[in-house]
Amino acid sequence: MLGISLIVLIWHVQTLLARHIPASNADTYLDSTHQTPIQAPDLPKKQDTLPEPGFFTLSAPVQLEAHIMSKCPDARDCILDQVVPAMSQLDPKIVNFTLSYIGKVSEGDDGVECMHGPNECLGNILQLCAAKLYPDPKQYLGFTYCTMKQYDLIPQRSLIQECAAEYGIAFSRLNDCASKDDGGYGMRLLRDSVERTRKAGVTKSCTVRVNETIWCVRDGGEWKECDGGADPKALVDHIQDLYNTKNGVK
Ligand SMILES: *[C@@H]1O[C@H](CO)[C@@H](O)[C@H](O)[C@H]1NC(C)=O
Ligand SMILES: *[C@@H]1O[C@H](CO)[C@@H](O)[C@H](O)[C@H]1NC(C)=O
Repeated sequence: MLGISLIVLIWHVQTLLARHIPASNADTYLDSTHQTPIQAPDLPKKQDTLPEPGFFTLSAPVQLEAHIMSKCPDARDCILDQVVPAMSQLDPKIVNFTLSYIGKVSEGDDGVECMHGPNECLGNILQLCAAKLYPDPKQYLGFTYCTMKQYDLIPQRSLIQECAAEYGIAFSRLNDCASKDDGGYGMRLLRDSVERTRKAGVTKSCTVRVNETIWCVRDGGEWKECDGGADPKALVDHIQDLYNTKNGVK
C-alpha cells in the first residue's frame, strides 16, 4: 500500500511538472490500423408521454466482461485480438461491457497486490479511473487498448498522456483520480474490481465471460476453454444470438 502511494505520489509530482496536454476529440474508436470505428451508444432520450401499453419493450443488454491485469501479455492479446475487434462490430445497445481486474486484496490493510508489482496496480487504477470518468467504452476501452499495446511501458507518464489524448480523455482528470485521497480513491476502485473478479471465481488473466459464463481464456499465449472459437466474429455472433433469445427477437 505504501509502495503504491509512493508511486502515485511520485507520478503525481512528475505530472505537476509536466505541461498541460490538451485532449483531442476521439473521432474514431480504433487507431488507423483497424478498420471499423465503433458507434457511440445512443443516449436515452427524455420521454414526454408514456408509451402505449404493449408497445414499450425494455431491451436487456447481454453482459460481456473481460478480467485482466494491465501488464499481462495474455491480457494484451485478449483486448487487442478479441475484445476490441468484437466491440467495434457490436451495436452498443445490445452489450453491457465491464472491464475487471485480477489481483489479491492484501490482508490487514486496504491495499491490493498485483502479480506484476505496484506498477501494474497503478496501471489498473489508471484504466479504472478512465472507465469511471469516461464510461463510454469508445473512450475508456480505447484508452485501455492504446496502453495495452505497450503494456510493458505501463504506467509511464508519456504513454498515459499519449493514449489519453488519443481518446479524448483529460490527462489531468486521470491524474487527479489516481492521486485523490493520497491514492486511496483509486485503490478503492481497484479493490472493488478485484473483489468482483474474486466473487466471479475468475483467476486467469485474461478471462472473457458472456452472460456470466466463460467464453474464452487467454493463458500462456494460447486460447483455452474457448469452444465457441477465439475469433472476434464468433463472440459477436454469440452475443447477438443471446440478445435475440433474451429479447424475443426472431
Ligand atoms: C451493466 O454492468 C454493470 C456491472 O459492471 C451493472 O452494474 C449494470 O447494472 C449493468 N447494466 C445493465 C443495463 O445491464
Ligand atoms: C444467461 O445465463 C443464465 C444462467 O446463468 C441462464 O439462465 C440464461 O438462460 C442465460 N441467458 C441466455 C439468453 O442464454
